[in-house]
Amino acid sequence: MTTAVVTDSFVDQLNSKIQQRQARVGIIGLGYVGLPLALLYSEQRFKVTGFDIDPRKIEMLAKGGSYICRIATEEIQAAKINGFTATSDYSELSAMDAIIICVPTPLNEYHEPDLSFITTTTHAIAPHLRAGQLVVLESTTYPGTTEEVMIPILEKENKLALKASRGTTLGSNEFLVAFSPEREDPGNTSVARRDIPKVVGGLNAMASDVACTLYGSIFNRTVPVSSPSAAEMTKLLENIYRCVNIALVNELKLLCLRMGIDIWEVIGAASTKPFGFHPFYPGPGLGGHCIPVDPFYLSWKAKEWDFRTRFIELAGEININMPYHVIQSVGKALNSRKKSINGARVLVLGVAYKKDVDDLRESPAITIIELLQKEGAEVSYNDPYFPIIGKGRKYDLQMKCAELDDLAKYDCVLIVTDHSDYDYKRIVQEAQLVVDSRNATRGIHSHKIVLC
Ligand SMILES: NC(=O)c1ccc[n+]([C@@H]2O[C@H](COP(=O)([O-])OP(=O)(O)OC[C@H]3O[C@@H](n4cnc5c(N)ncnc54)[C@H](O)[C@@H]3O)[C@@H](O)[C@H]2O)c1
Repeated sequence: MTTAVVTDSFVDQLNSKIQQRQARVGIIGLGYVGLPLALLYSEQRFKVTGFDIDPRKIEMLAKGGSYICRIATEEIQAAKINGFTATSDYSELSAMDAIIICVPTPLNEYHEPDLSFITTTTHAIAPHLRAGQLVVLESTTYPGTTEEVMIPILEKENKLALKASRGTTLGSNEFLVAFSPEREDPGNTSVARRDIPKVVGGLNAMASDVACTLYGSIFNRTVPVSSPSAAEMTKLLENIYRCVNIALVNELKLLCLRMGIDIWEVIGAASTKPFGFHPFYPGPGLGGHCIPVDPFYLSWKAKEWDFRTRFIELAGEININMPYHVIQSVGKALNSRKKSINGARVLVLGVAYKKDVDDLRESPAITIIELLQKEGAEVSYNDPYFPIIGKGRKYDLQMKCAELDDLAKYDCVLIVTDHSDYDYKRIVQEAQLVVDSRNATRGIHSHKIVLC
C-alpha cells in the first residue's frame, strides 16, 4: 500500500471530498446505532461500508433484509442501490476516508466498564490504518477512553508508524481522531434524526473540523467541543441527568402511593410550568443500553480521581429497587383478593425496555419475570415485538409470547411496558386484576386497576 502524502491542504481536500460526497465512510458495528447511521450517510449519497463481526447481520444485509424493527427492508435496499455494503473483512478499512466506531460498551458482572468491544475493534483497525484517515469513536464511554485506550492501540499497532495528529498542522505520518457521542432516542418520532445536534470533540482543531464536516453532511447542526474527553463527558452528563431525575420521580412515586396522591397527576400539573421544570416519569425500573449502564462508567472512572459520584450511586440504588417494588405491589394486589404470588398465573404485558421499541436490553421486565418465578408465580408474557424470549447475557428464560385472547384466566395482568398498540380498555374489561406500573390505564375507571 502506498502512503498518502498528507499536508494541511490535504485537510481541505478531505473536507471537500466529504462535501462532494466522494469520501468513503466505514461504520464499525451495525447495531441500533451503527446501522441507522450508515443509512443516513447512504441517503446523502455517500458510499458506505459497514463492518460487523456478526455473520447473520452481514448475511441479512447482503440479502437486503433488516434485523431492526423500525428499519424497513426498503431502506436497506435503497442503501444498497447507493453502494452500501456490509462485511466482516477489516482489510477494506484502508479504503475508507472516515471510520466511525459504534460497538457496544456494556458493564461486566462486577458493574464495571467492559471496554473489550472497543479494544478488540481498535486492535482490528490498527493494521489497516493509513495516513490522513479520520477515526471517530461514537460508543458511550468514560472521559479518557479515546485518548487513553483507543489512540495508544492505534499508534502502537499500525504498520506505518503513524501517530494521531495533535498539533496545528497535519504531518505526513498522522491520522485524525475524534469522539462524537450518539444521541438517538429509539421510538421517539417527535425529533427528526437530522435535527439532533451532533457534539464533536476532536483531538486537535483539524480533527474537529473534518469530523464536523462529516457529521454536518447528515445533521443540521454540529457542536464542536474542545477535546474528546469533553465530548465523552457531555454524553455521560446527558444520561446521568436522566438517570437521576428518573430516580427522583421514582422515589416520589413511592411516597405519593403511601400518601394516596397520584404522582402522574402531579407531574402533569407541574409540567404546565413554562420554565424551570422538565417532566420525567416513574416506571418499573430502568432499561435500555444507556441509562442503567452509562452512569456507572463515570462512577468507575471517578474512583481513579479519588472521587465518589454520590448522585449516581443513590439514583442507581433507587432505580434498581423499582422491580422489587412492582413485585411487592403485585403481592399486595393479589393478597387483597385472598391470593398469593405463589401459584398465581401472571401475564406480564410488554417486555421491551420502553414502549414501541424492539429492544430488550436491561429491560426491567426480565428482572420482574425472574422475581415472579422465584416467588412461585406461573408467568406468561405478551409483547408484539418479541415472539420469544430466549437467552441473553444475563438471563435464560425460554418463553413464548402468549396470545391476548383469554385474559380472564390470569390472576393478574401486570403492565410493564405501555406499547401503544394495546387496547387497554379491553384488557381491563377482560382481566380479573390489572397492576399498572406505567399509568397506561389512565382515563379508565375500574376497581380492577392497581397503579404501582
Ligand atoms: N441504542 C441506543 O439507543 C444508543 C443510544 C446512544 C448511544 N448508544 C451507544 O452506542 C454504542 C452502540 O450501541 P448499539 O445500541 O448500537 O449496540 P448494538 O449491540 O445494537 O450494536 C453493536 C454492534 O457492534 C457489533 N460488534 C461488536 N464488536 C464488534 C467488532 N469488534 N467489530 C465489528 N462489529 C462489532 C455487534 O455485532 C453489533 O452488531 C454503545 O456504546 C451504546 O452505549 C446507544
